[in-house]
Amino acid sequence: MRIKSALIVLAVAALLAVSLVAVSQRPARVAAVDFAVTVTPTQPTYAAAVAPVDPAPIKQFRIPITHDSIEIAPGVRYPGWTFGGTVPGPVLRVRQGDQVRVRLVNDAPMGHSIDFHAARIPMSDAYRTIGPHDSLDFAFTARDPGVFLVHCGTPPVLMHIMQGMYLAIIVDPKRGWPTHADREYVLVQSEFYARPAADGVAQPSYEAALGGAASYVVFNGRAFQYQVTPLTLQVGDHVRFFVVNAGPNLTSDFHVVGAVFDHVYPDGDPAHALSGVQTWAVPPGGGAVFETTFEKGASGAGTYAFVTHAFADASKGAVGLIRVSEPNQVAQRER
Ligand code: CU
Ligand code: CU
Repeated sequence: MRIKSALIVLAVAALLAVSLVAVSQRPARVAAVDFAVTVTPTQPTYAAAVAPVDPAPIKQFRIPITHDSIEIAPGVRYPGWTFGGTVPGPVLRVRQGDQVRVRLVNDAPMGHSIDFHAARIPMSDAYRTIGPHDSLDFAFTARDPGVFLVHCGTPPVLMHIMQGMYLAIIVDPKRGWPTHADREYVLVQSEFYARPAADGVAQPSYEAALGGAASYVVFNGRAFQYQVTPLTLQVGDHVRFFVVNAGPNLTSDFHVVGAVFDHVYPDGDPAHALSGVQTWAVPPGGGAVFETTFEKGASGAGTYAFVTHAFADASKGAVGLIRVSEPNQVAQRER
């Protein structure tokens, strides 16, 4: 009898162990990121390459709001307002149908808020302004695929956006993108309205913003950064650019010098497919997906530029380079 009960105990223990292993091997239901801990690298450039979407069906983002010194052009500091300590804030990536849980935490000395263009949700609850030390929780289902702007919507919105409060969210289509991409990049265009100051720290000019007189127009928060440190690709790469225009005022006429876009998806929804596109305008508050291939016999090895084709704006910083090399010549790739 004693042997029998010992055997039963052993069998139960074995079953428990097996089910524990099964549970631990099941894919996580929730992918949680705290952007106070996971801070987007901005040196030598804002990290434009994006990782694939996490398979967990629930995405949980803790987004701190801070006031931080940022670099908006080589050697030019600026008193920015941020999501997650950087301008733009972190890239969020989810899949169509995912539940997105947001915890907004205000670590800044004044009121702020967050507005998700990817959400269908009452703005009066989710997008309300919260004071210093306050936090706000809300959730939505990402129903629409694409690439969307997220920004602070606290009045005056013009001021909160010109100060840097924006980021991009990618909502991958439920069944994935129609074509394979070897590399994916996020590029957020925006403007700064800054008066130069003697101490090297530029100061905001709300009057210049009201008049639309931008001092810098930038991709991913800093003028000319990808001209100094280009994006690097290999011959044969099919590339997908997620372009979001935070504005606050100017349209982004996105174009790659030396390439033609195989596909453009306005708003990033593959149902909006265009083909053979030279330039596509992304309005302030909008986004689009651009795809092209750097292939032999066409846009092969060489140097290319991505710009807004509004060249007054490109001259103010919204220009970057893409260096395409033969696979065996690539010494190091920014992964
Ligand atoms: Cu704000
Ligand atoms: Cu908006």
